[in-house]
Amino acid sequence: MTANIDGESLTDQELGSFFILLVVAGNETTRNTIAHALDLFTRHPEQRALLLEDFEGRIAGAVEEIVRYASPVIWMRRTATRDTTLNDHDIKAGDKLVLYYWSANRDETVFTDPARFDILRSPNPHVGFGGPGPHFCLGAHLARREVSVMLRELFTRLPGIRAAAAPDRLESNFINGIKRLPYAY
Ligand code: HEM
Repeated sequence: MTANIDGESLTDQELGSFFILLVVAGNETTRNTIAHALDLFTRHPEQRALLLEDFEGRIAGAVEEIVRYASPVIWMRRTATRDTTLNDHDIKAGDKLVLYYWSANRDETVFTDPARFDILRSPNPHVGFGGPGPHFCLGAHLARREVSVMLRELFTRLPGIRAAAAPDRLESNFINGIKRLPYAY
């Protein structure tokens, strides 16, 4: 809040906007990811068994695969800063472009058998946290930690925990959210 770089600080308006961004980006995403994880491990018991066989060795890869598969943020938009060509499409400076992470995370030219949930997938160059560059998710490390800790605690304390019904999904084309997920243990 007090950062000052060469005499320039954030205005109250900018701080307010950043606070709202952090609250939403840091909460909506991770809780949806954790709900997707419970749903995925319920529907793929063999993947759950693989994870529990070596939790500490496999959780990092599992989190990446959950984020790839669930793609909790479906897209973001950019404005082109200069003319360019992408896959034979001409893009002009000022054009507004939508980046579909969901689609990129199922790109069959990048991922073998992309529709398969596979916690041992390696490499796993997904873009669930955004593409490389200055806007890559600021909270990716925190998110990975949160999801790992939550799954470790859930599966250790309640080994039988499972989703008890299909998720009640958020109606949104932007956030792949789960509003409610009944569970049992
Ligand atoms: C699994 C959880 C999460 C997912 C899937 C996720 C996904 C994303 C995606 C796709 C972007 C856009 C990147 C881009 O525009 O290229 C983004 C940006 C961002 N995320 Fe996350 N995020 C997660 C968790 C978090 C957490 C926990 C925080 C903070 C506590 C956070 C803070 C942010 C912020 C501040 C940005 C904007 C970065 C910028 O534009 O410079 N995210 N995230």
